[in-house]
Amino acid sequence: MLADKTVILGITGSIAAYKAADLASKLTQAGARVEVVMTKSATRFITPLTFRSLTGRRPVDMFDPDSELGIGHITLAEAADIVVIAPATANIIAKLAAGISDDTLTCTVLATRAPTIIAPAMHDSMFHNPITQDNLTKLKARGFTIVGPEQGRLASGDVGMGRLATTEKIINIISNLLERNGDLASKHIVVTAGGTQEPIDPVRYIGNRASGKMGYALAKAARDRGAEVKLITAPTPLPEPVGIEAIHIRTAAQMKQAVAEAVIGADALIMAAAVADYQPKSTAKAKIKKTSPTLALELVRTPDILTEVTGNFLKVGFAAESHDVITNAREKLEKKHLDLIVANDITDRDSGFGSDTNKVTIIDKQGNIDSLPLLTKREVADKILDRVVELLAKR
Ligand SMILES: Cc1cc2nc3c(=O)[nH]c(=O)nc-3n(C[C@H](O)[C@H](O)[C@H](O)COP(=O)(O)O)c2cc1C
Repeated sequence: MLADKTVILGITGSIAAYKAADLASKLTQAGARVEVVMTKSATRFITPLTFRSLTGRRPVDMFDPDSELGIGHITLAEAADIVVIAPATANIIAKLAAGISDDTLTCTVLATRAPTIIAPAMHDSMFHNPITQDNLTKLKARGFTIVGPEQGRLASGDVGMGRLATTEKIINIISNLLERNGDLASKHIVVTAGGTQEPIDPVRYIGNRASGKMGYALAKAARDRGAEVKLITAPTPLPEPVGIEAIHIRTAAQMKQAVAEAVIGADALIMAAAVADYQPKSTAKAKIKKTSPTLALELVRTPDILTEVTGNFLKVGFAAESHDVITNAREKLEKKHLDLIVANDITDRDSGFGSDTNKVTIIDKQGNIDSLPLLTKREVADKILDRVVELLAKR
């Protein structure tokens, strides 16, 4: 994936600049042509010689009269398959948000049409400052991909949000962006995941055993095939996948609202979430005390998201069944006007809730039944997406 790609690696004046050496080395080892651009401050943390040694190329300075690149920043901007600024200071983030171009790095970013990744690294207080947050929001809206920062120990000795994303994570994002010519390139896919939680009182809820793993696997597989993915997720302990817009919700009603907004302009909706069928009729404002020997909860139906959502996109549903799997799934497919339904037998030990594997049957509108063997959830995700690609091509 990285072989023969030109990666512009921008390095700025953060204490994390030394970590860029590892990134430059790994990218070079993966076959990329790495062109390093350092800000003046960055050279006070780590020397250009380090990068020259690691990449075999001299860091680029647009004012270098002896540069073989001609007008360095324009040559770089045009040659770039991708630009990565890692670490990115609060300062470079502010300059890019304001359109300032006063050094080789800012000029290159302004001149390029290549996707640009920004990996911020700074003290937690600088990161959380509303000025930095506003600048990042602006850059995101302009199509920059922001990676990290991560929570952890900072150079100051404090613990907080500000550590540079790991080399592995940054390389993953680079690979994903370079893969944007996959078979779902430019498609907008909405995926739901996890089990909704319907509150009984401020501390208790009605939930289910869904882990979110199937939905997350689908979201990541769609991303890796080039799709723009929105992941509407109920609470799960799973890490937020990189390169995907995650929308966090808790209840079925919130999921319905989030889905209605996310599907505008979407090509497909894949409902992998386990949405509660019933919710308490009312939520107690205060914690319910254990005063009486019994407690009756009155439940009412939650909204049926798949039936109620409308629009010209492909609809894929899931049916977790404990008996008559195929018959029940077919009924659901017809009733909810789905294009595909993915049925699984939750009584199967290796399949379904919490497991890393799944054994599913994919049924389409024409009644074709495809029973897959036991696969990892990622493999199942790719099988489902193969069908989505096929159906989208026929539209
Ligand atoms: C020891 C030291 C560590 C620093 N670490 C960071 C950092 O991690 N993130 C950051 O945004 N600024 C950091 N700064 C401040 C930047 O170096 C400063 O804002 C500089 O002007 C950035 O320039 P540049 O964005 O052109 O590289 C640090 C400064 C010093 C002296």
